[in-house]
Amino acid sequence: MSRLEGRVALVTGAGRGIGRGVALALAQEGAAVAVADIDADGASETAALLEAQGARARATQADVGTRANCEAAVAAAVEAFGDLDILVNNAAWTPTPGLSLLEFDDATFGRVLETNLWATFWCMQAAHPHFIRRGKGSIINFASGSGTRGTESQGAYAAAKEGIRGLSRVASREWGPDGIRVNIVCPFANSPGMIAWSKGDPASFEAAVAQIPLRRIGDCHEDVGRVVAFLASDDAAYVTGQTMWVDGGSGSVR
Ligand SMILES: NC(=O)c1ccc[n+]([C@@H]2O[C@H](COP(=O)([O-])OP(=O)(O)OC[C@H]3O[C@@H](n4cnc5c(N)ncnc54)[C@H](O)[C@@H]3O)[C@@H](O)[C@H]2O)c1
Repeated sequence: MSRLEGRVALVTGAGRGIGRGVALALAQEGAAVAVADIDADGASETAALLEAQGARARATQADVGTRANCEAAVAAAVEAFGDLDILVNNAAWTPTPGLSLLEFDDATFGRVLETNLWATFWCMQAAHPHFIRRGKGSIINFASGSGTRGTESQGAYAAAKEGIRGLSRVASREWGPDGIRVNIVCPFANSPGMIAWSKGDPASFEAAVAQIPLRRIGDCHEDVGRVVAFLASDDAAYVTGQTMWVDGGSGSVR
């Protein structure tokens, strides 16, 4: 199946983990993929992986924590492939180990907001003119059960991720008349970020895994990437403003 043949996608934070899985899934559906990550080597590895499968890919080193860098990442995707149809705001940063609300200083709290909420906003604004020109577009933003649950030691991250869900719902209404769909994915998958969490706080990790109805940890590509490919495709043409829990059912029982 090639549901995304002829489409161009930008995936932020695609140098590893879920972002890499998403990039792979979009490429397997025929999309040309711009791979942006603060980690230049990771971005290059992902692009090489896609190209080895016959896909068109371009790696860009980008720290999405500033407006200028987000605009540059969108511009690089358009320059590489001529246009833009799909934007996946997947990049994220939060301090490890986490901090209680009283431990956060402004700079750290701000950096979490910049690399999650602000980055999503900046990339969406930068992509918007290209979607208008195409007459349609699909945005998939990443949020988290840490936000809906209010996980301890994740104050900035929870605030940023719930901000992303609010921003996405507003965009789905403001931009829907222009054919631009905006959806949210809340995943649970075996990325390096998750592995770091499992090592840093095994008790909370085991507790989270124990409540997954499907009794397994998701795969970045097979489980999360394919759902993003569906949301990006015309199969989801009548779906916008929705939060998709791709977490084995954990969110649905929260
Ligand atoms: N893995 C999960 O189960 C899980 C659960 C809930 C939410 N999420 C969300 O899913 C998304 C992917 O998570 P993951 O687990 O694959 O994360 P990860 O930490 O494994 O990978 C994140 C990627 O983003 C990149 N990145 C970090 N800061 C960046 C910046 N400033 N600019 C550009 N790139 C940057 C990293 O280099 C890395 O390649 C994130 O938005 C995360 O919050 C993941």
